[in-house]
Amino acid sequence: MKIVNSPVEMKNLSITLQRSGKTIGFVPTMGALHQGHLSLLNIAAKSTDATVMSIFVNPSQFGPGEDYDKYPRTFELDSKKAQDAGCDILFAPTAQDMYPPNYSSYVDVAKLDTKLCGATRPDHFRGVCTVVLKFFNIVNPQIAVFGQKDAQQLIVLRRMVSDFNLSVSVESGPVIREKDGLAMSSRNKYLTPHERRDAPLIYKGLKGAKELFDSGERDGDKLIEMIKTHYKSSAMFTPEYIEVVDIVTLEPLKEIKDKALIAVACKTSESKTRLIDNIVLGGEL
Ligand code: PAJ
Repeated sequence: MKIVNSPVEMKNLSITLQRSGKTIGFVPTMGALHQGHLSLLNIAAKSTDATVMSIFVNPSQFGPGEDYDKYPRTFELDSKKAQDAGCDILFAPTAQDMYPPNYSSYVDVAKLDTKLCGATRPDHFRGVCTVVLKFFNIVNPQIAVFGQKDAQQLIVLRRMVSDFNLSVSVESGPVIREKDGLAMSSRNKYLTPHERRDAPLIYKGLKGAKELFDSGERDGDKLIEMIKTHYKSSAMFTPEYIEVVDIVTLEPLKEIKDKALIAVACKTSESKTRLIDNIVLGGEL
């Protein structure tokens, strides 16, 4: 596995690969790698000749008071995991190289970026879209793979790719979970033992709602009520939002006709960790 830090070197490398007829599959990450990240690498490797994974804790997607400074940075361990998972090129630029002095261009995916997580993280998706567009231009992948764990991110990025006529094809991978159902996340490291004990309830609630949907319930509010009942049984977290939304517009759905996304965000009470999870009803994202 080759490790590249310079965006110029990464761009030259992808041009060379493409000139020799090789396709590139790309997986952007912020590191602290777990099985969720590595599963995306496997998806990318299946349909491309070379895989590129980026590790970059992107400052522009963290708001004031968020965890940019304390976000886990474990590069040595990550590079070993990426190599063992078959990654060909690990791209790890510095913030200075990605955002040099006088940097001033940003991407806004209007409307979608104010829904769900966007309501409490106003500039988050602006930062995500900006860095991902920059990565697409540096890495020039044919395929980029994102996790359904961050469903809104996937939907917003698909909108950006379509709106800007980008030629990359966006693929997605399922949510990878711990044995007890908790969605894997780099932020799970922050949880206290009590919070970790109760965290599987987040997915339990979602599964309960899906069972209700599968048995014929189509009223979005009834599904939300069922999830709230589950969440009330723990004092370890408070829901920030529980929404049943359209998978393209992210608009709330009162009545589910076809597919729907149930998305939740919770704040834990001890370590104040923000956890998100979701489940798709009636198909895939
Ligand atoms: P990060 O949180 O590191 O996630 C990188 C990718 O891994 C994303 O596509 C995310 O959805 C996926 N992922 C995380 N946990 C997962 C899980 N349990 N199962 C499946 N996939 C999972 O998302 C970001 O970084 C950043 O916003 C980024 C896109 C890199 C831009 O900075």
